[in-house]
Amino acid sequence: MTTLITNIKELLQIRENSVLKVSGAEMAVLPTIKNAFLLIKNDLIADFGSMDNLPKLSADLTIDATGKIVLPSWCDSHTHIVYAGNREQEFVDRINGMSYEEIANRGGGILNSAKKLNETSDEEIYKQSKARLEEVMRLGTGAVEIKSGYGLTVEGELKMLRVIQQLSQNYPVTIKATFLGAHAFPSAFKDNKKGYIDCIINEMLPEIAKNKLADFIDIFCESGYFSVEETEQIMEAGIQFGLKPKIHVNQFNSIGGIQAGVKYNALSVDHLEIMNPEDIEALKNTETMPVALPSCSYFISIPYTPARKMIAAGLPLALATDFNPGTTPSGNMNFVVATACIKMKMTPEEAINAATINGAYAMGISNTHGSITIGKKANLIITKEIPSYYQLPYAFGSNLIDTVILDGKIFI
Ligand code: NIG
Ligand code: FE
Repeated sequence: MTTLITNIKELLQIRENSVLKVSGAEMAVLPTIKNAFLLIKNDLIADFGSMDNLPKLSADLTIDATGKIVLPSWCDSHTHIVYAGNREQEFVDRINGMSYEEIANRGGGILNSAKKLNETSDEEIYKQSKARLEEVMRLGTGAVEIKSGYGLTVEGELKMLRVIQQLSQNYPVTIKATFLGAHAFPSAFKDNKKGYIDCIINEMLPEIAKNKLADFIDIFCESGYFSVEETEQIMEAGIQFGLKPKIHVNQFNSIGGIQAGVKYNALSVDHLEIMNPEDIEALKNTETMPVALPSCSYFISIPYTPARKMIAAGLPLALATDFNPGTTPSGNMNFVVATACIKMKMTPEEAINAATINGAYAMGISNTHGSITIGKKANLIITKEIPSYYQLPYAFGSNLIDTVILDGKIFI
């Protein structure tokens, strides 16, 4: 099956195969071709270029993109899409003055979602999660990382990872699975933290590795959750089972999680709302991608990741949603891109780089996703007719997506 897209007003994010991420000043550059064509063969990008050089060929399907912009679909490298129920009540409690920490301390927060998840059947969790996945696909996400972490029991964590596997088999979106057993200490282990860590290492990890249920390991490294020492112990165990770390750090406090992530060559360190100069320094000249989650900052009113300082220091930056029931009940990457521009003062070029090629890097897939490159996956967004790509962050809240192509086929 061949699909030819013609008369593209501007084709964004043209990259050589060798570009796996962009850092510092490079982030301000978004290579494009105006008045372009793009050819898809089966599920891959087969060719692209200026309309002046359009080869003579007859495609099975031709899409006229006059006035429209084409870009690689969003790569959302940090989500918790699989969960049961919601936490609307906690949202209202926060409006009425309670903090995220106070809610967690009374047994709400992650433990509230864990209780719901363990009480819900596999079929029901799949049904609720697939609705969220379909929504983000319609919003232009073509690759997504999904974490466990609301089971907090051997059965619950395996149940979540099996749902992620099922979603991955049933949908034309690229999914990477992350084991986040170390998301919180479950009530049963409140006074026996070592016991829960032993359970993660000796019971959960071997089962997950045996059944190939995860690509990555995550830990919520934060005061009141997992200490730096515990984070290192769990990362080390995960690595032994073949899972690369991608960890939650510096959401509320800077306690050394970034340095630990770098030490274990984490693929990414995510959140980064609270960053001191040593944290930025620690990320320089490493292979670890920093990931910002601006819709989490927006929803729970915490600081935004200091993107300007990080980019000025020469670092790369990726953007992701953090879609989860507690801190970010939204998986809209278009909103993330707009919020990064509006609140973090990223330019549209930087934000699009962060949400495509750098997001792909943070999932270990930037050799196949995240840019317009011959041989990469044909996961694409075709916008409505818009004046320029500035419109994407500028008209925040509007849905500017006309067509989503996944695995080379029209999804919407
Ligand atoms: O990324 N910070 C830890 N985990 C999630 C929130 C979890 C929850 O509140 O359910 C996050 O913000
Ligand atoms: Fe998260």
